[in-house]
Amino acid sequence: MNSTLEQLKTRFTQALVLAFGSHFTQTDPMVVPASNPKFGDYQSNVSLSLAKQLGQSPRVIAEQIVKHLDVTDICQIPTIAGPGFINLTLEAEYLTKQLNTIQTDPRLGLERAKHPQRVIVDFSSPNIAKEMHVGHLRSTIIGDSIARILEFQGHDVLRLNHVGDWGTQFGMLITYLREAYPLALTTADVLDLGDLVTFYRQAKQRFDNDEEFRETSRHEVVKLQAGAEDSHRAWRLLCEQSRREFQVIYDLLDIQLTERGESFYNPLLPKVVQDLEKLGLLEEDNGANCVFLEGFTNKQGQPLPLIVQKSDGGYNYATTDLAALRYRIHQDEAERIIYVTDGGQANHFAQVFQVAQRSGWLIDNVEVLHIPFGLVQGENGKKLKTRSGETVKLRDLLDEAIACARADMEARLKEEEREETEQFIAHVAQVVGLSAVKYADLSQNRTSNYIFSYKKMLTLQGNTAPYMLYAYARIQSISRKGNIDLEQLGGDAKILLQEDAELILGKHLLQLGEVLHDMEQDLLPNRLCQYLYELSQKFNRFFEQCPVLKTEEPQRTSRLGLCNLTARTLKLGLSLLGIQVLERM
Ligand code: ARG
Repeated sequence: MNSTLEQLKTRFTQALVLAFGSHFTQTDPMVVPASNPKFGDYQSNVSLSLAKQLGQSPRVIAEQIVKHLDVTDICQIPTIAGPGFINLTLEAEYLTKQLNTIQTDPRLGLERAKHPQRVIVDFSSPNIAKEMHVGHLRSTIIGDSIARILEFQGHDVLRLNHVGDWGTQFGMLITYLREAYPLALTTADVLDLGDLVTFYRQAKQRFDNDEEFRETSRHEVVKLQAGAEDSHRAWRLLCEQSRREFQVIYDLLDIQLTERGESFYNPLLPKVVQDLEKLGLLEEDNGANCVFLEGFTNKQGQPLPLIVQKSDGGYNYATTDLAALRYRIHQDEAERIIYVTDGGQANHFAQVFQVAQRSGWLIDNVEVLHIPFGLVQGENGKKLKTRSGETVKLRDLLDEAIACARADMEARLKEEEREETEQFIAHVAQVVGLSAVKYADLSQNRTSNYIFSYKKMLTLQGNTAPYMLYAYARIQSISRKGNIDLEQLGGDAKILLQEDAELILGKHLLQLGEVLHDMEQDLLPNRLCQYLYELSQKFNRFFEQCPVLKTEEPQRTSRLGLCNLTARTLKLGLSLLGIQVLERM
């Protein structure tokens, strides 16, 4: 089913052609959702933009468009306001028809993308032997939601975990473990990530202060890169240990990812440098091989180099990203590549993209995008820390969210004098706690910093996961009370829109397609959160004003139909945010 916006655009184009000639087929009719409900539901300012070209006043142009505009089956008679805005208000009959159609569709009438693409979403990407931190949590939550939305829209999405599993840190770590804890390098499962992180810290300290240690570490890296068996086994064990811990978080958060870490691209790195050389882009700078960048300068105004091979022959983070980009374009045949990291890496990506562009590796039909996000802050507005001032471990943070959700729930059960099984309480607490963390992150514009507050994210009022989950559970309780299987209602529930609250809810239910369509481009999950929040609000208002079970037919079935559509829309929308609903809570 084409969205209302889509249909209106087509009708406008037809009117433009009828009024001004066939060369207007390509003109953007500029139909958008109305900025204010007092202007109706949709509006177009196209007459203003055509005034110069047509040499007529916008008002006259608007009159001609409206004269040729055939929207009687969709809207009330269009009105012209101010200098020439065209305002459209949807007809209740049209809305009813649409709602009755989407009811019978498992996809709720939501169209797939007209041109499905092969998309790579590079997200999460923690570093081996280091703790996954809140930045990786944001990348994981945002990346997963973007991937889910694009998948739902019909794109072919490859979710890649570009883990930091290669590089000098392994030389250091292996060297340190050889003397401090050799068993860890030969036997699986003797360390957990916490130990590993501690060893990493100690190794780093030695590396910074001990010349001989540094030398041995460098030698160890060379050995590892050359494929020496003992070094390789040690490296593999370290990776496996980290991976196991990361997996705990992914399982908890229901995240699917294909791991393809930096090491994967290692064999491809020399060729990146050779090819840059052949293209004449490579220059030497203090023994390092680099590409001088356009538009990036140092304090003295000289162009900055992007180092692709250090003077000791080693390669960099950027070299790996160049190799990865080539691989993703040529082997994976990606048409769109999305990188989800904190805003601090914006320059890194801009530089890598520039070199890929200048070397001709980035071909025309491929779009590369860095999707930056802001910092997670503690309630004091500073970097999130534990009470004792350490970095917060993800596992602890998620456990704490679940514990807080549980405390809230227990208080509520007591107040309502309700008894529930331990299994039920644990399940609800887990879903609410984790959803709250995800939703708090996703509901912010991702580019801004956000303040992490258990209290805020768990409140039942406002733009939070619990609020949304409640709206859903509330609907399910209606069906329980009335002993009605909402799912079975299907197309039999003829929806009628009589009360204002019904009309408002009905309109909103039909707008999800437009939101998802826009999100394919701007990749801002907070727009979906906002949509769902407004949906819950509009539903709650409807529910307060319109009795459902205690009303007569045909209203009763119609209202049950609206309830069901709302529940399905909430469930679908939340699932695209990686949030699971609860039938009861
Ligand atoms: N491992 C990196 C980090 O922790 C993120 C990697 C992002 N992806 C990429 N292709 N560079 O900051």
